[in-house]
Amino acid sequence: MPTRFCDLVNIKLPIVLAPMGGATTPELVAAVSNAGGLGLAPLWRGDAKDVKDFVRRVKALTDAPFGVNLNMDFPSMEQLDACLEEGVPVISLFWGRAPDFIAHARSGGAKVIFTAWDSESAVEAVDHGAHAICAQGWEAGGHVRGTVSTMALVPTVVDAVGETPVIAAGGIADGRGLAAAMALGASAAWIGTRFLSAKETCIHPDYVARLIDACETDTGYYDDLFDGGWPNAPHRALQNSTTKAWEAAGRPKQGQRPGEGAIVASTPGRGELDRYACTTPNTGTTGDIEALSMWCGQGVSMVQKVQPAADIVHEIAHEARKIISF
Ligand SMILES: Cc1cc2nc3c(=O)[nH]c(=O)nc-3n(C[C@H](O)[C@H](O)[C@H](O)COP(=O)(O)O)c2cc1C
Repeated sequence: MPTRFCDLVNIKLPIVLAPMGGATTPELVAAVSNAGGLGLAPLWRGDAKDVKDFVRRVKALTDAPFGVNLNMDFPSMEQLDACLEEGVPVISLFWGRAPDFIAHARSGGAKVIFTAWDSESAVEAVDHGAHAICAQGWEAGGHVRGTVSTMALVPTVVDAVGETPVIAAGGIADGRGLAAAMALGASAAWIGTRFLSAKETCIHPDYVARLIDACETDTGYYDDLFDGGWPNAPHRALQNSTTKAWEAAGRPKQGQRPGEGAIVASTPGRGELDRYACTTPNTGTTGDIEALSMWCGQGVSMVQKVQPAADIVHEIAHEARKIISF
């Protein structure tokens, strides 16, 4: 399935494990890369040592290409330098314009993917030297900067950036989605929510169970709800007791929201959490898991069972091949 993006980053299948903060383990990244896709590790919360430790754990598990994702709302050259010193071949940048990070990653020999939310941000990143664009549609899970749906965004960005490979993100969870993305001109699919039920993730089992039970209408897009630790960053998550109480109260502003400030859970590394914390409940989180931010996209109805990440990659590729030849 050679596409321009596959050639660019030297992978066999046009399937990218979307970076998912708090959900991604070295085992998950390596499993997707070993299966022929590209695993991406979100390492923007750590210092240089944390970044290097995680990267070394991935490298111990795979010789295949993989990448690291950094958040431009919390820009850290120290994190980028740690990646470059470890020879990370692909750097993914999201949430914000990043000309200096693109240039620095390029000069360190990495291929750079920029997550765009509209055609203007995509073209600007390409002008600054990005090698590929991830076009993230509104359906996507987690933090979502734009408000355009994947179906409309991808062909628009493809037209805008010319020869630069575009990776489609948002609502793609099976081979039909991959085939559709490629029909829109994408060179690969960037898949998050579907991999949340991979055996190798570290999210809390209650969160996994809720994803498996959920349907396409069970998510919500919130401008600034689960904002503790990362304000002003719109996001999509499962509706739960927190979102429903907030809606019932008339969507009050920060400081006036139901139950604000009361501790409902605690999690390793962050300590106590109130219900509006920006967090990903993981296997070490204790307390009221249901009340926390359970990020996921509208493609959640296609999450139906726990399975190894490699099986997810192969299943998606196989299904897509039945629809389009590649
Ligand atoms: C649990 C979760 C955490 C996420 N964390 C990040 C992140 O740290 N960095 C990033 O660039 N995108 C993050 N995202 C967004 C994904 O990279 C991707 O754009 C999205 O999952 C694609 O849509 P889908 O969930 O419908 O497949 C996250 C998404 C989820 C579901």
